Amino acid sequence: MSRTTFRLNDGRSIPAVGLGTWQSKPNEVRDAVEFALQHGYRHIDTALNYGNEREVGEGIRASGVPRDDIWVTTKLDNPWHHRVVEGFARSLSDLDIGYIDLYLMHFPCSTDPEDSTKHLPDWDYVKTWQEMQKLLDAGKVGSIGVSNFQIRHLEKLLADPSCKVVPAVNQIELHPSNPSPKLLDFCKSKGIHCTAYSCLGGTIGSPINNSGPLLRDPAILEVATAKGRTPQQVVLMWGVQRGTSIIPKSISPSRIAQNFELDGWTLTPEEMKKISGVQTRFKVVGDGWMPIKVFFDDDE
Ligand SMILES: NC(=O)c1ccc[n+]([C@@H]2O[C@H](COP(=O)([O-])OP(=O)(O)OC[C@H]3O[C@@H](n4cnc5c(N)ncnc54)[C@H](OP(=O)(O)O)[C@@H]3O)[C@@H](O)[C@H]2O)c1
Repeated sequence: MSRTTFRLNDGRSIPAVGLGTWQSKPNEVRDAVEFALQHGYRHIDTALNYGNEREVGEGIRASGVPRDDIWVTTKLDNPWHHRVVEGFARSLSDLDIGYIDLYLMHFPCSTDPEDSTKHLPDWDYVKTWQEMQKLLDAGKVGSIGVSNFQIRHLEKLLADPSCKVVPAVNQIELHPSNPSPKLLDFCKSKGIHCTAYSCLGGTIGSPINNSGPLLRDPAILEVATAKGRTPQQVVLMWGVQRGTSIIPKSISPSRIAQNFELDGWTLTPEEMKKISGVQTRFKVVGDGWMPIKVFFDDDE
């Protein structure tokens, strides 16, 4: 499983397991990225918004793994929607890795850079996508996609005559307490691969962390015990077996290694069903900090 890749609608292949880096501090993330790559990871997820692209790039270069063997995803931040070329150039320059494999629109929300409480007037994500499509011609990005898009966002985007490129990926929150089957099915029907973020249920110790209850859920503990695996490993395996790529975040070498131990075992259909049957519901990422509503609770 750690070597599994998923084929995207543009013919490129994304590694199933990557390292997340949100809330990994610059002084921690360099070592985490270097360690992960030296221990087999070939996929790193970052974003301009995380403020750590420079150190992520340092970790990539320090790893000694050839650049062409690594998949790097980064994202356009909300205040940069009307400045796609500049936002992309900044990420590319900070990462300093020659090119970006996957560039995502972080949220379907263009924020006024002068006032984060305001939506940018006369600029929505359809316009942003028009600009992102142009990036493909410049040859510094392999694939383009979106993140945090709900069904209604995708329907509007795909129906617009300016949409010539179907997003290769929609990176969304997915874990057993936010399984989003309707959104997942919709993406599949349009040929859009989904990457699962907060795939362990979010960051421990963060005010918005909720992973404790998920990873203590009796169904998950039961499957973990039966498999002789950790609750985290069975939740990650559930994500890959659903056909989503996963990007668990860690800065701890032992946990980075453990999250990659997904070879030589699988979950049975009954075990998959048991995990899918988890009843608790929560989301790690909300939209209260953005000037417009993005999540509509309509993806179940
Ligand atoms: N597109 C978006 O809007 C968006 C939003 C959220 C996240 N993301 C991406 O998705 C990535 C993952 O999501 P996330 O960071 O929200 O959370 P996550 O990966 O679900 O969980 C991370 C938390 O789990 C801990 N952890 C990791 N492996 C563990 C293990 N084996 N045992 C016990 N604890 C473990 C980490 O702590 P330690 O670091 O101390 O190990 C951290 O506190 C992000 O880093 C980011 O790259 C994208």
